[in-house]
Amino acid sequence: MLKEIEDTKQYIFSRIKVKPKIGIVLGTGLGRLGNRIDGKKVFPYEDIPNFPKATCEDHQGNLILGSLGGKEIVAMQGRFHFYEGYSMKEITFPIRIFKSLGVEVLIITNASGGLNPQFSPEDMMLIVDHINLTGDNPLIGSHLYTLGPRFPDMSQSYTKDLLLLTQRIALEEKLNLQKGVYACVPGPSMETPAETRFLRIIGADAVGMSTVPEVLVAVHSRMKVLGLSVITNLNLPDSMKPHSYEEIIATANKTAPRLMRLIERVIEEIIL
Ligand code: HPA
Repeated sequence: MLKEIEDTKQYIFSRIKVKPKIGIVLGTGLGRLGNRIDGKKVFPYEDIPNFPKATCEDHQGNLILGSLGGKEIVAMQGRFHFYEGYSMKEITFPIRIFKSLGVEVLIITNASGGLNPQFSPEDMMLIVDHINLTGDNPLIGSHLYTLGPRFPDMSQSYTKDLLLLTQRIALEEKLNLQKGVYACVPGPSMETPAETRFLRIIGADAVGMSTVPEVLVAVHSRMKVLGLSVITNLNLPDSMKPHSYEEIIATANKTAPRLMRLIERVIEEIIL
């Protein structure tokens, strides 16, 4: 893996001279946020050596380098999901690339289903912790100590300073910001009412099909992490309703401008 990381880094650095310290993952329905990045250079994933190949899908797939909130950043416009058939190592390869480009802070976003009855669709949720229910882990396999520790500590995965900064900015900007625990399931089927009840009982406030693999590798790489979820639908086990993918995308799209305002302000104020 070290050679692949080095080759991909060289590919990017031979085309653009930047030193981004902030990496952003734009999740489902949030890709348009990438249009707000200034002075950008866009690399379609299919052009980047060693990046996973697209399975089909309507997710956008671009690596964008530019500036946001007055700082140099690198952003993934669209991500790779476990349910598409990618391995955990493929899904998280871009996070290894973030690290090799110099990224110290990962801002990761997703669309998720709300489990906490106090949430509403279009809410934003600060991820304070997660539960990995995928049954897999990108860190399984032979250990390359140059990439990180064998048994990374996960007791403070979502960086306290960034949580506090984001909460303060949300207050200043009068943006309603929930906080909670994100459970990651493999998907692609949505949860049954019984699964939804189980997720709530084990302590989850939101459920989705991403983010946790990338956070595991970010923590392994000793990055600071800020996770933000858009609640696109509410799943209450005793009154479950069907939710379409179109509805989820539409709600994520609707919430995207607020999320962008929050992220931009956070980037402005992050001290690196
Ligand atoms: N379940 C799983 N993933 C999701 C959901 C959901 O209800 N909404 C958006 N992503």
